[in-house]
Amino acid sequence: MILVVVLFSPLFLLFPEILEKDSEYGRRVRNLIVFAAVIKGFPVRLIDTVRCSKDGGRLRLDGPEEGADFIAEGKVHCEKCGVVYKIQDGILEMLEDAAPLDERNHFEMAARDVEAHKRVESNEITALSEIDRMELPTTLGQLGKTDGRSLLEIGCGTGRYTRPLAERCNSILAVDFSKESLLANARSLPEDRNVGFVRADAGDLKLKEESFDLAFSTAYSNLPSPQIRSRSNESVSRALKRNGKYVVSTHHHDIREILRGVSVAEEYENGIFFQRFTRGSLRRELEKYFSTIEMKTVVIWVPYVSRFKPGRVFFSRLAEKVPILNQLGGLLLATAVKDKSSS
Ligand SMILES: C[S@@+](CC[C@H](N)C(=O)[O-])C[C@H]1O[C@@H](n2cnc3c(N)ncnc32)[C@H](O)[C@@H]1O
Ligand SMILES: [Zn+2]
Repeated sequence: MILVVVLFSPLFLLFPEILEKDSEYGRRVRNLIVFAAVIKGFPVRLIDTVRCSKDGGRLRLDGPEEGADFIAEGKVHCEKCGVVYKIQDGILEMLEDAAPLDERNHFEMAARDVEAHKRVESNEITALSEIDRMELPTTLGQLGKTDGRSLLEIGCGTGRYTRPLAERCNSILAVDFSKESLLANARSLPEDRNVGFVRADAGDLKLKEESFDLAFSTAYSNLPSPQIRSRSNESVSRALKRNGKYVVSTHHHDIREILRGVSVAEEYENGIFFQRFTRGSLRRELEKYFSTIEMKTVVIWVPYVSRFKPGRVFFSRLAEKVPILNQLGGLLLATAVKDKSSS
């Protein structure tokens, strides 16, 4: 960062408005500077893990960039149909020329962009909340050994999980349909990270078969129909190696909510869709593509005790091990394995 300040100090002197907090122009230039300073681009070796969204063809890097390890701006084309996909700002763009996304997807993408933008503006990208401290350790723990592994992350957002995973995994293919989220995520990582960011629709994602050790999704609850979720499961299952592990984090429809009549599908205030799952409903969707499926809940608001802020994180983590209480988490984690009998 010191190097960035030194390198760009003449710019700051000539154009003082760059430093003004409320200037839109300044914000754009600041983003450009930070971006140029920390993002090398899309790792070339990960291009082969992504396939053409139209016909599953292999993607080949175009032009003079051949030989580079990272591509910040460039193009790839499909060997089968010739369609061209851009790499812009280091992000592989699979949606630009795709068949128009349906209205809901369009709306959700825009809403996610707005959310990401707000988080960047208020400097909240790397801050960890109380819920994060309840949720992250157990969720990451479900992936097991991540050191040196290749991981597919679906719905990477602004990087709450990408950051800790990038410290350990050998490589990550991080997918999201919100460009603002992908940019914020990329900017929050160190320069030498081995993360390839892809803007794509999780319900229409084509990947190289058997190319990841692990997969992880926090977007499952946001996929709005069983058909879309099924397509996503199929794509993940194909992309995982044999015995590869898939951890899915969803909203939990716990017994208290069921008794209170809380509905299965809902929207946040900003209109983003989410679906709650029970162990049974999530298992039924996953078991078509994966064999060994374990379930557990996290983020447990323990009755009475959680009214008091001190210790809430501690009691949530403790409750994960206490029968009955461990059924009451706000999130349901499924750990699925692709073994020989998985399709
Ligand atoms: C619940 S958020 C989780 C974000 C991040 N992983 C985190 O834990 O903070 C779900 C993410 O999935 C993305 N998403 C939702 N539906 C998607 C879709 N159909 N295709 C790609 N990404 C999607 C959203 O943009 C959002 O970033
Ligand atoms: Zn193609």
